[in-house]
Amino acid sequence: MVGCRNKRRSCKRFNSGVLSNSMSYSKDLDWPLMRNNILTSDARAVADFLLPEVPILTQSSQVEAFEQEWSRWLGVDFSVFVNSGSSANLLTITALREIYGLGEVIVPTLTWVSDIASVIQCGFTPVFVDINRRTLGMDAHQVLEKITPRTKAVFLTHVLGYNALDAKLLAELKARQVPLIEDVCESHGATFGARKLGTFGLMSNFSFYYAHHMSTIEGGMICTNEPRLYETLRMLRSHGMVRESKSPDLRQSYFEKHPDLNPDFIFAFPGYNVRSTEINAVIGRAQLKRLDQNNRSRTENLRLFLENLDPEKYQTDFVVEGSCNYAFTLVLQHPDPLLCDNVMKAMRQHGVEFRRGTSGGGNQLRQPYLKKTLGEKEFAKYPVVDHVHFYGFYIGNYPELEREKILKLCAILNDLSGEESRRGL
Ligand SMILES: Cc1ncc(COP(=O)(O)O)c(C=O)c1O
Repeated sequence: MVGCRNKRRSCKRFNSGVLSNSMSYSKDLDWPLMRNNILTSDARAVADFLLPEVPILTQSSQVEAFEQEWSRWLGVDFSVFVNSGSSANLLTITALREIYGLGEVIVPTLTWVSDIASVIQCGFTPVFVDINRRTLGMDAHQVLEKITPRTKAVFLTHVLGYNALDAKLLAELKARQVPLIEDVCESHGATFGARKLGTFGLMSNFSFYYAHHMSTIEGGMICTNEPRLYETLRMLRSHGMVRESKSPDLRQSYFEKHPDLNPDFIFAFPGYNVRSTEINAVIGRAQLKRLDQNNRSRTENLRLFLENLDPEKYQTDFVVEGSCNYAFTLVLQHPDPLLCDNVMKAMRQHGVEFRRGTSGGGNQLRQPYLKKTLGEKEFAKYPVVDHVHFYGFYIGNYPELEREKILKLCAILNDLSGEESRRGL
């Protein structure tokens, strides 16, 4: 019965321009986190590639072409295609260690586990900072406060399509000669000023997992303008082998230094095998052609969502300039467990898939893998991310998402009550 009452109230509220009377809340919204991110046309591109004669399938010319097209699209000199965004993180931090040596890396509390895992696995000490509530990215002021002579890099994540950079942060990092690494796995196509995110850092990482802006099924990209890093990353991707380097001079220097070794099998680093395949690259090339158009639709969707949410209940003041989101961010204005429960119930009831805690499940310092070394209470030092941990969600945002669905979800969410109504306020 409560549901029926809510239905009527919502229709009334949104008659004035947003929702029409004829809309019913009983209809399932059928809204997954991602829909149709790999199309029949992508499958056709793969079929065309495979027929009539099966070509080379391991890393070869399609991977190379995808890397070049991606570099052009992004605006960088070099890209290295790998089998996941996590592998991109791992290779990036390994390359940092090989070239800059060990020390501290400043990392966010809201990010994917592989960003922090790569730092730990490579032997660096992660130094955490809280987030800026309006960008969900690292709090720039705290980043600058935590820089010490031991800092080897700031490894920043652009969370769910929002730009986390600002001019002061970039200027300070440059002045203090602290390398910036950008994780853009959740923000393909987002910009800061006139440039795409992923072009500001010494290296940047992208993921092409199915749920992201574009997909190669699984896949990732590392981008840089530094030739030495490019060569290192290429070698690290394939067992640390020198023959993977594109630089004849670099290869020659290894050959001359190691005359006892077969030039085909010189391992410069303890590397990995995180190569992808030609098939994934064919899908990536097909997908890249429609990325910009898809991103325009996503940006319109997000703005519609935020414009129609009730700002008394939900945060609507995200910094959307330059943003490009594959997910809507839904964060409660206040720590309100009743509203939070009602939000989850309503989304389940209407078939809206969601993830609580937003990116990576919220406050990383609450995770067992970090509690083990940093203690049970460390998470409490980061209150802004802790709010998002309990009262933040993300919801899918894909190009074909209907305007009516977005408005309907906003109406449902706006109609939910929380602690204030229980207390009769
Ligand atoms: C910020 C961020 N970094 C890295 C990754 C890892 O990417 P992948 O899932 O392709 O390994 C993700 C995955 O969702 C992510 O969101």
